[in-house]
Amino acid sequence: MDALEAIRTRRSVRKFKSRAIPDSALYTILESARWAPSANNLQPWQVIVVEDEGTKKLIAEESLEQDFIADAPIVLVICSRPGPCEKEFEELGEKFCTQSVAAAVQNILITANSLGLGACWIGSFAEAKLRKELKLPEGISVDAVIPIGWPAEKTRPAGKRELADFVFFEKYGNSGRGSDMFPISEQIGKIKKGLKEFAHRLKNK
Ligand SMILES: Cc1cc2nc3c(=O)[nH]c(=O)nc-3n(C[C@H](O)[C@H](O)[C@H](O)COP(=O)(O)O)c2cc1C
Repeated sequence: MDALEAIRTRRSVRKFKSRAIPDSALYTILESARWAPSANNLQPWQVIVVEDEGTKKLIAEESLEQDFIADAPIVLVICSRPGPCEKEFEELGEKFCTQSVAAAVQNILITANSLGLGACWIGSFAEAKLRKELKLPEGISVDAVIPIGWPAEKTRPAGKRELADFVFFEKYGNSGRGSDMFPISEQIGKIKKGLKEFAHRLKNK
């Protein structure tokens, strides 16, 4: 699966089979977090891999009782260490830390999908009990929870905005140039066909 396909076919998965995830898949997913961009390469993320049933249950309870979280064989708790970001970037530090960790989260979700696994970005949780259970030290916060497992549901096609809704040229609100390009979803087939033909021509040169 190429990068664009892994991005386009990723959906939030909220039903999981109980089947275990092989370590090789887990490490591939964790490795993808490693390569995320981060402000000044500070890499402020930290990841706790949770497999313990009791801990997964507690995480689900503290996440507004989103019970499906506990059904996933693995729950990643994505933490961040904003201190160094805040020291280096002062008032921009918090924003840079959040954005860097979000990039790592997205890498995790896309990589899980590329391996045929399902995952969901969970942002609704209360931190206090999680901190205690996971023994988080001062200065480390919980940014996201990601249950990962083999999907046990067919996800709905996602309603995504067309490029023309949010892409402007030169000035906010100017969609002008896009008229022949958008909706891009209708162009993807043509682009892929063009690339295939180009690759074929190169090969036969
Ligand atoms: C910051 C953030 C917080 C989210 N929190 C939750 C959550 O607590 N529970 C949940 O089921 N989905 C959560 N989601 C997933 C979104 O609901 C989902 O990405 C969105 O509906 C689009 O669907 P898709 O992921 O299938 O494209 C969150 C996503 C983000 C980016």
